[in-house]
Amino acid sequence: MLYLIDTANLDAIRTCCEYYPVAGVTTNPTIISRENSDFKTLVTSIRSIIGDERMLHVQTTATEAEDIVKEAEMLRSLVGGKFYIKIPITKEGLKAASVCKSHGIGVTMTAIFTQPQALVAARAGADFVAPYINRLDNIVSDGVHVVEEIVDIYRLYSLPTQVLAASFKNAEQVHKVSLTGAHAVTINPDLFDTLLYHPLTFYAIDDFAKDWENVYGEKKVSDLVK
Ligand code: E4P
Repeated sequence: MLYLIDTANLDAIRTCCEYYPVAGVTTNPTIISRENSDFKTLVTSIRSIIGDERMLHVQTTATEAEDIVKEAEMLRSLVGGKFYIKIPITKEGLKAASVCKSHGIGVTMTAIFTQPQALVAARAGADFVAPYINRLDNIVSDGVHVVEEIVDIYRLYSLPTQVLAASFKNAEQVHKVSLTGAHAVTINPDLFDTLLYHPLTFYAIDDFAKDWENVYGEKKVSDLVK
């Protein structure tokens, strides 16, 4: 399962890429507007931080197929690299997805809440579908279960579309999604820190340091092997 980060904050992207195994960045209009800055500069800066090999998923704001395709083409030329246009799952969105694929543009169908939506998106040629876990959990609709069934359906019909689970609020949701065989998750940078957190890890590291110091004092491994 790949980890992407769901943010357009340049500092957070820089830090995450330095410390964590980040496969890419996803944005949506809400995430972009949070930064309240020049859109073109923002998306090109994201690309220059993450490099061409990491995925960059940017959402269209158009609603008609023709306009979505136009935006996808413009964004692909602007940001280059591994680019995916995020298209909400609508009738126009599906039409646009097929055209984008025929133009060689990567497609992520987003705002997925049901298994049938995911199957239709896959048949339209989407590379990824993004089901929204926490928003489903908020309406007592078990986001993890929806992802589980989407993964099963794709396996059943040998569909190459990958599941990029989105909308997470806690580590438990990410863990449960990892058991479904979903291909990727996109998470808020803070959630990356949470995934690592365990007090016993801190205690263990403290104990190692104390035991070492009792015998070797201030000296480090590097001091003793040179
Ligand atoms: C990603 O594709 C989605 O746009 C995003 O994860 C939605 O997250 P939210 O439910 O926290 O807004």
